[in-house]
Amino acid sequence: MGGARSAIRELDLRLPSPVEELHDDLLARHGIRLHMKRDDLIHPEIPGNKWRKLRYNLSAAADLGHDTLLTFGGAYSNHIRATAAAGYYFGFSSIGVIRGEEHIPLNPSLAYAAGRGMRLTYLDRATYRRKHSTETVKALHEQFGEFYLLPEGGSNEPAAQGCAEIPREIDLNFDVICCPSGTGGTLAGIAAGLRDGQRAIGFSVLKGGQFLGAEVNRLQRQAFGSNSGNWTIEHDFHCGGFAKKSPELQAFIDAFEERHGLTLDWVYVAKMMYGIFALAQRGVFEPGTRVVAVITG
Ligand SMILES: Cc1ncc(COP(=O)(O)O)c(C=O)c1O
Repeated sequence: MGGARSAIRELDLRLPSPVEELHDDLLARHGIRLHMKRDDLIHPEIPGNKWRKLRYNLSAAADLGHDTLLTFGGAYSNHIRATAAAGYYFGFSSIGVIRGEEHIPLNPSLAYAAGRGMRLTYLDRATYRRKHSTETVKALHEQFGEFYLLPEGGSNEPAAQGCAEIPREIDLNFDVICCPSGTGGTLAGIAAGLRDGQRAIGFSVLKGGQFLGAEVNRLQRQAFGSNSGNWTIEHDFHCGGFAKKSPELQAFIDAFEERHGLTLDWVYVAKMMYGIFALAQRGVFEPGTRVVAVITG
């Protein structure tokens, strides 16, 4: 991975990412201290959990002698954008397999990916549902030759190992660490990186995300050999479902921006933060609890 290693230096990644305390009256009233782990600042094009998930996949791809990355995503996928950027910076060709039909002109996400050299191809929705099946992957190999396959959302064993580094970078003592959850990879890794007595909460951004628990369990067993047993998932803060927004969530985002000058990504991060404040108000955290919120993008 010689080329890739030198590219990491040129990329100027902000690692370890900063940890900032958030001073907020509501949390103070409930005796809670909240710090934000600002993974969103790691890199403008490969931010947050995207970098964490790609890091060990890039070295695995290079070690296995691959020069092409292939992955899957919807037309607005952050993971597609980040994989295109990683391919560009680390010297891999990249192929994005997009759900549904091609629409020209490309939307800004796909136009960005194409601009970073990603070759885009499309699968109808029925085939896309079977994207990880042996037949679909075989057909992609027949079309594109050899490639290193990253699953949709980028959640696999190397991704979980990369996410386990998030808590290990945090020097201060904390009790609970929180992240948004879409495929479960980030939570699986974060929870595995905790010390005894610490626990993790994932906030599902999906309506009907009850399958996530099984996914986190599967990923932890594959990546670390066992389930760390120190995590839970909150299912009450999806605010209408994936990429949907309730008026309450929008009001929370606006008020948060006004109080703290930070605009929260509404698809993932805002739902977690909204959930943390709601749990604090409900008295779920004991007074004195030190909470870290991972700003994943
Ligand atoms: C900004 C952001 N936060 C959180 C997540 C959810 O992470 P995971 O899919 O590992 O649960 C994603 C999706 O990967 C994301 O883009």
